[in-house]
Amino acid sequence: MCGIVGYIGQQQAMPIILDGLKSLEYRGYDSAGICTMDKTRPDIRRSRGKLFNLSRLVEALPLRGRIGIGHTRWATHGKPSETNAHPHQAGPVVLVHNGIIENYLALKSKLSGLGHTFKSETDTEVIAHLIEQKMKSGTAFEQAVRDSLRELKGAYALSIVSETDPDTLIAAKSGSPLVVGVGGKEFFVASDIPAILPHTREMVFLEDGEMVVFKNGQAQFSTVAGVPLKKMPKHIDWSPLMAEKEGFRHFMLKEIFEQPRAVRDTLSGRILEEEGDVYLEDLRLSDAGLRGFTRICIVACGTSWHSALIGKFLLEEHCRIPVEVDIASEFRYRNPVIGPETLLIAISQSGETADTLAAVREARTRGARVVAICNVIESSIAREVDGVIYTHAGPEIGVASTKAFVTQIVALLLFTIRMGRATDSMSLIRSRELLADLLHLPGLMDQVLTLNEAVRDIALHFIHARDFLYLGRGINYPIALEGALKLKEISYIHAEGYPSGEMKHGPIALIDDQMPVVVIAPLDRLYGKVESNMQEVAARGGRVIALCTEGDRDISDKAEAVLEIPDCSEHIAPLLFSIPLQLLAYHMSVLKGNDVDQPRNLAKSVTVE
Ligand code: F6R
Repeated sequence: MCGIVGYIGQQQAMPIILDGLKSLEYRGYDSAGICTMDKTRPDIRRSRGKLFNLSRLVEALPLRGRIGIGHTRWATHGKPSETNAHPHQAGPVVLVHNGIIENYLALKSKLSGLGHTFKSETDTEVIAHLIEQKMKSGTAFEQAVRDSLRELKGAYALSIVSETDPDTLIAAKSGSPLVVGVGGKEFFVASDIPAILPHTREMVFLEDGEMVVFKNGQAQFSTVAGVPLKKMPKHIDWSPLMAEKEGFRHFMLKEIFEQPRAVRDTLSGRILEEEGDVYLEDLRLSDAGLRGFTRICIVACGTSWHSALIGKFLLEEHCRIPVEVDIASEFRYRNPVIGPETLLIAISQSGETADTLAAVREARTRGARVVAICNVIESSIAREVDGVIYTHAGPEIGVASTKAFVTQIVALLLFTIRMGRATDSMSLIRSRELLADLLHLPGLMDQVLTLNEAVRDIALHFIHARDFLYLGRGINYPIALEGALKLKEISYIHAEGYPSGEMKHGPIALIDDQMPVVVIAPLDRLYGKVESNMQEVAARGGRVIALCTEGDRDISDKAEAVLEIPDCSEHIAPLLFSIPLQLLAYHMSVLKGNDVDQPRNLAKSVTVE
């Protein structure tokens, strides 16, 4: 949460910082600010609300200078206001921060005792005062930063400038992400790759406890303790276009429509059709290693947790191995039973979710082997695990996750095939069938996307509903949960997902003629049961929106609206059903006039507990 950007080079910093912040706004958007070093003096602009307000401000009062730092905020300590917006200044020191300083109250009281006065309610301002205090007693800027960082407890990614050293920019990281873009004699710093992509694809990923000092066209990497480091840039394949809307009205819509492409990229280079197997380049687990596990735990949050639930279904069905799924924020607080015989799979689009990262660390401490399914290359989780399956979905900018979700399920299917083949629990015929299904998937997704207009009409029809129920069974139950979450997040309509069979154990009391009930009803082995559930809803006046298999003629007399999905295998059906549910949430949100890509109170990467 929060996005930070920094620039040092020969160009004017302000437009570069502002553009960078635009692509990081998904990380937080309650206030924003920029500081540039104009000759020898730091010049700061800050404003409450979306970045648009800051853009207007710097249009009216431009900032000059070839060094700059910027920030877009998701409030943790202190309400969204101009005073609490970053950058924060103390004497000559100006900085932006992403993370939480846990010992800030103790530091604040110590610094207050030394005569410092604080303008904001933030934890961040304390860091600026701490550095200033050390500089007051004669310590040079760089050393004062090092000494201060060693006193901080908690998480930080920082970009710092000082009036005393107007040609220097310092960046440091511990617990919050930070990437450095290298472009000849100019350098970029950002919380996430897309902010830097328009300028360079050569990137250095800082590890926890590392910092970099930019000066005289050079970047000097070191540990906070001062040990010099040699860090080589990595080439990032993502293109700048991937982080743009490409003519779509919102990122979310673009990302829904690019799912067939994203799935192709997840599959690319990994399918071994002849062998009925897959190649997972960074999994780093041999067949013998895979055979050694007696159980699997999957941890994730939010939408990624829903894909984990589908993973349980797939792995238990095809690999006959017990799978437990945990919400990452619960995992380490319940003394989980895991050890070297357990494989822990962590699923995270961003690879930065604090709770998922903490669960990974907990599992490793207890001796489990950990594999991650991540989208963001070189993210914290991807770097801390034993093996990783990248989803290769490209940057996901819309706060509501869409293409990351489906590609996570595809990655889980690939892993299921690998595990099934390595442990001999999946026959060659079965694995070839699954691979064929996967290869057909992008084409089928293209077909489902043609439902867009029909879904929009349904949204229009149900726009005044105040609550929604989503029902699904088996592998489609997590899709019901995900459909409900999407609707909640972006259209602010209350929605619940339930396994259809649970309905009569309580939720059926909610059903009346005001209640739309979205039922996922594929023509599979559970069809008869779901059909009965639908009858029960209809009998109580509930308004059924049915998602069914193409050609299911019986369903229309039980439903007020029907959306047909191409006939396909049970294992890829959830991927197809998720598309109309994403579109339904999207159109509801647009019709309500909400901010689709930046829904209230949310942030894309939840890097705080
Ligand atoms: C919902 C959504 C969130 C994320 C969750 C985990 O649309 O995006 O629920 O799925 O915050 O994020 P990652 O996958 O980055 O760990």
